Amino acid sequence: MDHPVNHFENDLVAALSSNVKHISPKYFYDVQGSVLFDQICDLPEYYPTRTEMSILSENSKAIAQHIGPQAELIELGAGSLTKVRVLLRQLELPTAFLPMDISGDYLRAAARDLQKEFPKFAVSPIVADYTHDWTLPDPLPETRRRIAFFPGSTIGNFLPAEVDTFFANCRKYLPGGALLLGVDLLKSPQIIHQAYNDAQGVTAAFNLNLLNRANQELNTNFDFSQYAHWAFYNAPQQRIEMHLVSLKRQEIELNNQLFVFEEGETLHTENSYKYSVDKVQKIAAKQGLKAGPVWTDPNHWFGLLWFDIPDFETTKGEKNESYLE
Ligand code: AVI
Repeated sequence: MDHPVNHFENDLVAALSSNVKHISPKYFYDVQGSVLFDQICDLPEYYPTRTEMSILSENSKAIAQHIGPQAELIELGAGSLTKVRVLLRQLELPTAFLPMDISGDYLRAAARDLQKEFPKFAVSPIVADYTHDWTLPDPLPETRRRIAFFPGSTIGNFLPAEVDTFFANCRKYLPGGALLLGVDLLKSPQIIHQAYNDAQGVTAAFNLNLLNRANQELNTNFDFSQYAHWAFYNAPQQRIEMHLVSLKRQEIELNNQLFVFEEGETLHTENSYKYSVDKVQKIAAKQGLKAGPVWTDPNHWFGLLWFDIPDFETTKGEKNESYLE
C-alpha cells in the first residue's frame, strides 16, 4: 500500500537538496502533529473548523435531503469523524459510511466508536491516501448514490494541479455520485493571518513538529530552537504560506549526506489556498462536475459546496462529442 511515511525520507532529501526547499504538508500528521492539529481546530483565531461546523448544524436537514435516501457516504481524510455525525443523524436510511484516511489505527478506532453509535448501517474504514489511490469496494446493492464528503478545506492544501487531479478522481471513481466540499473562502487578510499566527503558539508548534518527526523517524539533527515559524498571507496567490526559517547557517545530516541551511533560508511546509465559490466551481467544471447549492455562514467565511458528478453514460456522451470535434 502507498503510505506517505515510506516517502518521507525521499521527499525530505529532495526538499533539502533543492535551492527552494519545499515539502508536502501531509508530513505534519504523525501522532503528535494530529494532536496539535486538533488543538488548532479549537483555537479562538482558527475560524474554519467552528464555522464549517455551524454551517453543517444549521443546514444538516437541507443537505441530507439533497443527499437523498439510501446513500453511501465516503469521507475523505476522515479524522475524528466529528463533523460527519451531524450529517449521518439526518440521513434517510443510509446504507454505509466509508471513512478514508492514511492513518489506519486512528481511523479504525474512530470508526469502531461510530459504528456503536450508528448500528443500522455499515461503517467500513478504508486505509488509503486519497491524493493517490481511491480503492473503493463495490457499492452495496441497496445503495442508490455515493456521496463524497471532503470537509475542512483540505483542498486548500493542494497545489492547483492536485486540485485538478482531485476533481478528475471524483469523476472517475464516483460516476453518478456527488461531492460535498468544504472550502475556506477569501476574506480579510488580517483574519486569515491571525488564524495561522495564534497567540498561544500552537500553529508554530505544529509547524516545528515536522522537524521533530524527521529527527525521530529519519535520525536527522534538526535543532528546533534554531528555526522559526513563519506564516503569512500571500495576497496575489490567495494563499497562506507556512515556512520554517533557519535562524543561522546550519548543517543537517540525513541519509549520510550533509545539507546546508543558510541564515534566513526557509523550508516551505504548507500552502493553504483560499478561494471564491466561483473559482472552485470553475475548476471543478473543467473536470465535468456540475455545481449545485452552496451553504455558507452569515459572514461568507466558509462554504460547503455541492457538486453533481455525471454518470458513465454522460461521460461517454461528452467524450464522444469531444472526439468528434
Ligand atoms: C488541514 N488544513 C486545511 C489546515 C489549513 O488550515 O490549511 C492545516 C493547518 N495548517 C495550519 N493550521 C491549520
